Amino acid sequence: MKVVILDSPAEVARYGADIFQQQLKRKPDSVFGLATGSTPVQLYRELIERNRAGDISFGAVRSFNLDEYMDLPPTHPQSYRYFMNSEFFDHIDIDPANTRVPPGDAPDPIAACEAYEQAIGDAGGIDIQLLGIGRNGHIGFNEPTSCLTSRTRVKTLTRETIADNARFFAEGEHQPHLSVTMGIGTIMEARLVVLLATGASKAAAVKAMVEGPVSAWCPASILQMHPAAVVIADEEAASHLSDPGFFKHIEAENQAMLARLGRA
Ligand code: F6R
Repeated sequence: MKVVILDSPAEVARYGADIFQQQLKRKPDSVFGLATGSTPVQLYRELIERNRAGDISFGAVRSFNLDEYMDLPPTHPQSYRYFMNSEFFDHIDIDPANTRVPPGDAPDPIAACEAYEQAIGDAGGIDIQLLGIGRNGHIGFNEPTSCLTSRTRVKTLTRETIADNARFFAEGEHQPHLSVTMGIGTIMEARLVVLLATGASKAAAVKAMVEGPVSAWCPASILQMHPAAVVIADEEAASHLSDPGFFKHIEAENQAMLARLGRA
């Protein structure tokens, strides 16, 4: 697991966007795994700007989102489909037909989850998976105690996650307690994983992910076992790590080596 610690959320977004840009350069028809939540919004804005500037194109990209609330239609302003359209897809040159979000309102959710897994496989698997992290260490909606080899399925949200996300719902508005989420096994099959973490509220989860035992109690800790996982954290999110200076030293050495090789 590579850990990059940067000064601000804006730098986290730019560093993450650079990784996506490099991925598109390597493979213009990449398959993206995408996330919602507040953390990736700045990264999406970066990518939108680069798309507008003509630096990158999403014309050949296919995407699969991590998760969706159960029982919210895609037109609902709190649905993750609505979020992705309004925060990202509507502003870039991606073909909307090539974007998928797990169906939260499918008449047969179990069959829909199987079909989602099938569609990811048919697309050749996910090349680059974007993640945020919950305060409780969740990735996607794989809450603590989730099976570490799980596949796309219906998942009950913890009371903590429901409380964390209540800010997005109006007073008295129905807030789902169930979700459809890619599994941890699904996420682990992505060729490259990029996890963003910003703000002090994520510091304990980041420490458990990076330093803790690999445990279903902190689902993100499984990323220690991923061959190509990059954690990009701001100072606050990294503030509980035992030795943040070590990761900064490694990153400085890496950048120096890339400069020597003319690849910086
Ligand atoms: C969203 C998702 C979640 C969020 C996590 C952090 O698609 O899968 O795991 O990444 O809850 O959310 P924010 O970024 O709002 O703190």
